[in-house]
Amino acid sequence: MKRVAILGSTGSIGRSTLSVAESYPERFEIVALAAGSNLEAAFEQARRWQPRIVSVALEADADLLRTRLKQAGLSEIEVVHGAAGAVRVATHPEVDFVVSAIVGVAGLEATYEAVKAGKTVGVANKECLVAAGELITAEARRQGKPLLPIDSEHNAVHQCLRGGRMEEVERIWLTASGGPFLNTPRSDFSSITVEQALNHPTWKMGKRITIDSATLMNKGFEVIEACRLFHLPPAKVEVLVHPQSTIHSMVEFVDGSILAQFSVTDMRLPILYALTYPERIQSDMRFPVGNLRHLDFSPPDMNKFPCLRLAYESAEAGGAKTVALNAADEVAVAAFLDGNIRFDEIPKIIESVVLASNCGKLGSIAEVLEADAEARRYAQERVLTMHKKRTGHPRAASVVQ
Ligand SMILES: NC(=O)c1ccc[n+]([C@@H]2O[C@H](COP(=O)([O-])OP(=O)(O)OC[C@H]3O[C@@H](n4cnc5c(N)ncnc54)[C@H](OP(=O)(O)O)[C@@H]3O)[C@@H](O)[C@H]2O)c1
Repeated sequence: MKRVAILGSTGSIGRSTLSVAESYPERFEIVALAAGSNLEAAFEQARRWQPRIVSVALEADADLLRTRLKQAGLSEIEVVHGAAGAVRVATHPEVDFVVSAIVGVAGLEATYEAVKAGKTVGVANKECLVAAGELITAEARRQGKPLLPIDSEHNAVHQCLRGGRMEEVERIWLTASGGPFLNTPRSDFSSITVEQALNHPTWKMGKRITIDSATLMNKGFEVIEACRLFHLPPAKVEVLVHPQSTIHSMVEFVDGSILAQFSVTDMRLPILYALTYPERIQSDMRFPVGNLRHLDFSPPDMNKFPCLRLAYESAEAGGAKTVALNAADEVAVAAFLDGNIRFDEIPKIIESVVLASNCGKLGSIAEVLEADAEARRYAQERVLTMHKKRTGHPRAASVVQ
């Protein structure tokens, strides 16, 4: 029986993980859950799974949840809150495996502490690898524990790498659906609405990653994530637009052989792979190979999607640049979702923040969080300036002073 903690249990990946656990009750026990602000879902999950401990983002919500659980006769479930609460969930002594699926840098400390506590970690939260991947992978090596990718592309690469040794790898190919605006002319980008940008062609995901997929920043983050997870330089990680999203990624070896992984587009499969690694177990997620007709590939257009170029440049520079890249994106995406900036202004904000940040090496999670806060402040200033320039109004709703 594997004892599992889920960071981000109320999100898309969190719920898919619970669905996997539901399908294999003899294999997985849910011991600890960390949610954000969806109190109703956190309560329902706590009632259904009866974990030892549950964390929510805010203290006031933790008080409410504690009261509701008591009324439901579940007062033995410990309720904690905040970043420290998520760390308690991630490092709970009864936990063997941690699924890291909080969105953004909010999940960084808990993910790092899980690795440091010697847990095996399945990583969906790519932003923590973008911001602090070198620290996290170094700690995992020290602990002698694998970091198992849940992101479908990296999960595919992980599977393909079982076909050869790391020193035999020529390069890896990350596939990209291209997002909803693959065929939209760049001249139309200024009028893209939030609703259009949230309409991803192949995957149903949280809002941040869906917007990041539309700008191709998600693919840029994945390039950095791949460099960190597989210890490769950015030049060895290439992106191919593959609108069918059938092949989840490929590894090319030095002899010219290319191994590709394909399967249904269902996140339960990479989650199951990570949870059961190094085993493979029976599932009902079948890909109808006989129906396969088209596999189209083309190079990404980095002029049309500057976020991908910015990610490659930040990956090359390293250090605080990738922290700034993620922080600026987090602020810019929130501002776009709140209607304060246009879709085509997202990369402009990110570029100005990355240019202003330094590329010094960051030696601790505290230094990463400091660089993150600084980049966030600057990004918020840029949002305010852009918003004011366009509307004449001094304040944008998404900007926290
Ligand atoms: N969805 C996918 O298919 C997919 C694929 C690959 C990688 N990923 C990555 O996986 C991560 C999660 O993605 P998602 O699509 O599942 O996102 P999501 O649906 O938006 O879920 C995010 C989760 O994070 C929690 N959260 C947010 N802020 C928090 C905070 N301050 N403290 C504690 N918890 C907090 C949310 O809680 P509440 O809802 O309770 O507020 C929710 O449980 C992201 O890093 C994403 O890039 C996702």
